[in-house]
Amino acid sequence: MSPIPAAPSMGQLATQPTKPLLRTLAGLPSARPPLWLMRQAGRYLPEYRQTRAQAGSFLDLCYNPELAAEVTLQPIRRFGFDAAILFADILLIPQALGQQLAFRENEGPVLDAIRTAGELTRLNPDGIHKTLGPVYEAVGRIKAELPANCTLIGFAGAPWTVATYMLEGRGSKDFPAAKTWAFGNPVGLDTLMDILVEATIAYLDRQVQAGAEVVQLFDTWAGVLPEQEFRRFCIEPVRRIIAALKEKYPALPVIAFPRGAGILYETYAQATGADALGLDYTMPLGWTRDHLWSKTVVQGNLDPRLLVVGGSALAEGVHRLLSTFKGRGHIFNLGHGIVPETPVRHVEELVRLVKGSEVSA
Ligand code: CP3
Repeated sequence: MSPIPAAPSMGQLATQPTKPLLRTLAGLPSARPPLWLMRQAGRYLPEYRQTRAQAGSFLDLCYNPELAAEVTLQPIRRFGFDAAILFADILLIPQALGQQLAFRENEGPVLDAIRTAGELTRLNPDGIHKTLGPVYEAVGRIKAELPANCTLIGFAGAPWTVATYMLEGRGSKDFPAAKTWAFGNPVGLDTLMDILVEATIAYLDRQVQAGAEVVQLFDTWAGVLPEQEFRRFCIEPVRRIIAALKEKYPALPVIAFPRGAGILYETYAQATGADALGLDYTMPLGWTRDHLWSKTVVQGNLDPRLLVVGGSALAEGVHRLLSTFKGRGHIFNLGHGIVPETPVRHVEELVRLVKGSEVSA
């Protein structure tokens, strides 16, 4: 066999993406991994704090297409990331379905919790686009201003994680209400999952129509369920969402982030059909390399605290990731979102380290 690979045909050339993130998602090699950070638009940036103050509240910002586009693009201008992620929130879906939602200072989200299966009739899946229209408009505005090599990521929460907020009425550590549904009324929870699956498909479809090139599903609380419930309420809804999106957009890359799934990441990857897996920061690199990276694209997983600490600890963490996943199949990111106290200069240092790795590769 010739050591020189065959030249790609014209057909292949025509379909190969040029943007770094899309190339990595397509399995193509690269001299350094594409880079973006979860929660890259946020309170650690002075320009974000200023725009948010201008908007009024966090939700006012989410529903203001001009200002949502502005905060999406701020980290792109400052750091030159390879992807922009739409500025919105996973809890806009429950709000669009008719639930009351407020973000209180230092308290996080508060919703009027759904307590019984009978109350699911409060949710109205038909009206969501009326509420979410400004989000689609923001997507269009971002796309129009995006630098040529930067990819636009749309997103939604995965049904289980969104359901935890809908059922608890707030953030939780042990999920008493959501777990009571999962174990005590799984059929009722299936009904909520059906509503969320359909709403999420419709929401992401509109984001793609408006210009999103990749979508990510955030399953922040995937790691709190036992295996059987994990399969039913995390894997199955996400599988259905991905299948529906792929039926309509066969080339659309989907990234899924089942935070805390541990060794079930492997089953999750196979069963959901996601193109790439967002790794949380607890995932051991050796296991990940052997069980996931060998078969699929991975994204992550620097501990966001390292970005607060900086210095040699940050440099070592970055180096370990770069040397574990070399040459292909890795999107550089954090293992969860940036925290507000992150110094901007540490993000600059991270960008230098990752982009500089190209030279020494
Ligand atoms: O990544 C990005 O830059 C895009 C925007 C984005 C936000 N939230 C903006 C936001 C994305 C992708 C999310 C996802 C999200 N929202 C998740 C999943 C990812 C994760 O972090 O686990 C979850 C669980 C939520 C729900 C949510 N939104 C909570 C619990 C909170 C309060 C906690 C906090 O950090 O304040 C939010 C608020 C929120 N969402 C902020 C931002 C920038 C902070 C709001 C502010 O400006 O005060």
